[in-house]
Amino acid sequence: MKDSALTTKLNAALVSRDERKIRRRLPDPNTSSSNSTLIDFNSNDYLSLSTSELLRKRFLKKLNDAPDILGSGGSRLLVNGRAHSALEERLANFFGSETALLFNSGFDANVGFFSCIPQSGDVVVYDEYIHASVHDGIRASRSRDAQYSFLHNSIPSLRQVLTKLRHERPGLVSGTNSLFIAVESLYSMDGTFAPLSEIVDLLEMTFPNGNGYLVVDEAHATGIYGPQGRGRVAQLGLETKVLARLHTFGKALAATGAVILTSTLIRDYLLNYARSLIYTTSLSFSNIVAADCSFDLLVDGTAQQLAADLLDVSSYFVNYIQPRLASIPPTLLSLPAHLAENSTDVPPSPIIPIMTSQPRPLSAYLLALGMNARPITWPTVPKGKDRVRVCLHAGNTRADVEKLAQGAIRWAEEIMADQRMGRTPPESRGQTGDVVFLQSKL
Ligand SMILES: Cc1ncc(COP(=O)(O)O)c(C=O)c1O
Repeated sequence: MKDSALTTKLNAALVSRDERKIRRRLPDPNTSSSNSTLIDFNSNDYLSLSTSELLRKRFLKKLNDAPDILGSGGSRLLVNGRAHSALEERLANFFGSETALLFNSGFDANVGFFSCIPQSGDVVVYDEYIHASVHDGIRASRSRDAQYSFLHNSIPSLRQVLTKLRHERPGLVSGTNSLFIAVESLYSMDGTFAPLSEIVDLLEMTFPNGNGYLVVDEAHATGIYGPQGRGRVAQLGLETKVLARLHTFGKALAATGAVILTSTLIRDYLLNYARSLIYTTSLSFSNIVAADCSFDLLVDGTAQQLAADLLDVSSYFVNYIQPRLASIPPTLLSLPAHLAENSTDVPPSPIIPIMTSQPRPLSAYLLALGMNARPITWPTVPKGKDRVRVCLHAGNTRADVEKLAQGAIRWAEEIMADQRMGRTPPESRGQTGDVVFLQSKL
């Protein structure tokens, strides 16, 4: 590209990101693909289905038998594939929802929903850790000037926000306006669960006229929690208490695409106004077949066994590393409070952040030992909450997670020894490693 005002400005922005150590780069494909020799503590392939022989065979057979297998040929509004409609019907039945509507991705689904459903005068309230796609949807909506966040998973903070809004906005009291709460059932960076039942109770108490609505993003819970992997909403029996649920196919289901489960009216409205649905070619037939095959594994119980293995290895890892952290300063290595508490109220989570003030060196050290666990820093997570995020998988063994814990502890002990001796840590302690940015509002 020739030098110009544009190239100068673009370069300056990238250099500034470099200087602030927040420049995004694609990771090395050799370290991140599912057939890499590294132990995967990074991908969202929670059930290890992306390497499942059973799923691969089923997919190839179904694909071979399918009447349509290549491109869908256009937007759903122009070409409504039979396979697409059939999958929606199947998913509405499976999840116990009035209707289902496919989107090309979870990102598109959130943008589509939040950009058009809230009407003029309505308000959107969201957990401070909500995914970037919800932010983008709200920004494009009529509620862009009426959006409020509450502290992560804090019922007192949510109560405060709702109470204040009722005082300030008579339309919310009279019921002429609506309020939407956006949460994730399992948060991708922290592995924390939204207190869904408490949120529903609070919403019903604060908005007895029924003009308060809950929207739950189940991207990270799909396939893992609830009966047959139907998610946390189903696990807690809240299906009739939420306005819409989002399930994505790209994480535990090893496919691509997403579905919004909601009412007939909302579905019709989305078909008319959700631009991320209307103005895009719908999923290819092979995408639909792939997702359909993954749901076969949810229905026949295969995924439930994998989910049990996943949660077992997740608990094992936390229990294994926890006592070994006792002699290490928490700034160097610690588990977040919700894991340190050892609460029995919530199920285990496969997302386990290892808090550290030095996420890049730790990640690089683990990489040198054959393990892929990525550093996450500001602006993806708040300042001071840097971490190496561990994502576990059904295919991870107890030996894998013991190796991970031992590697992290050894790294911390070597740093402590360096500090005692007044030494600068050598390269082998890891000075590099890219940072991942997934939720950034920047
Ligand atoms: C909570 C959450 N919602 C939505 C999405 C987007 O889903 P998809 O990857 O299908 O676009 C993601 C993916 O990163 C996510 O973590």
